[in-house]
Amino acid sequence: MNKPVEKDEIDLKAQEFIREVRSRTQPLDDNELDLIFNSGRSFNGWTDEPVSKEQIRKIFNLMKQCPTSSNCCPLRIKFVMSDEAKEKLGPVVNEPNRVKTLKAPVTAILGTDHDFHEHFKKLVPFRAEMMEKRFAENPDMIVPWANLNGALQAAYFMMAVRSIGLDVGPMQGINKPGMDGAFWAGTNVKTMFICSFGRGDETTVFKKLPRFDFDEACEIV
Ligand SMILES: Cc1cc2nc3c(=O)[nH]c(=O)nc-3n(C[C@H](O)[C@H](O)[C@H](O)COP(=O)(O)O)c2cc1C
Repeated sequence: MNKPVEKDEIDLKAQEFIREVRSRTQPLDDNELDLIFNSGRSFNGWTDEPVSKEQIRKIFNLMKQCPTSSNCCPLRIKFVMSDEAKEKLGPVVNEPNRVKTLKAPVTAILGTDHDFHEHFKKLVPFRAEMMEKRFAENPDMIVPWANLNGALQAAYFMMAVRSIGLDVGPMQGINKPGMDGAFWAGTNVKTMFICSFGRGDETTVFKKLPRFDFDEACEIV
């Protein structure tokens, strides 16, 4: 039989926080679910409503709470807002996507860090050495972990954008090596895709494409 895990003061505080939050919250209501899921669309154009740096920080601080394998947190983001950064972005976005991207208030370049395993001292302080050894002995694990967990965090990012009432326009029609050179030089971060966000202009949305029904994609076993 497994030995029960000893719980310290910090574990108990985390559990107390969950109890306290549960005592004052409810599941999202239908309007909130519409905002994030049912009416959430991929936008192709934007209103002039600006996005603030506070909103950008809020999105990151929501996204970062969601889970990754062993808390490896490989997502890195460049938020392109300035004219100077947009000048670098334009040439590495494929032509059909370029105009709509450069008109967005902000475009997030979502990259995944293939050196994520160098940060276990911060991210997994209670068993950093064990994790470092695991990746040193199994370097083949690095790319799949970076890709899986980076994509997960990018998805959490889009849900976080919608949860604060903004819209997303994700895109992978880009020159990824070009984007790596322009925005991630000197690092081991690899661009996954870009995501413009802001207040979407609903006149730029087309008919919604079908999704699978539950029975076509799922089985309860
Ligand atoms: C990772 C990713 C890459 C995408 N790349 C592009 C793209 O290059 N160009 C484009 O117009 N739309 C792109 N899209 C948008 C999708 O086509 C869109 O999300 C999908 O058709 C669902 O549309 P909806 O969210 O409006 O229902 C991309 C979406 C994702 C998540």
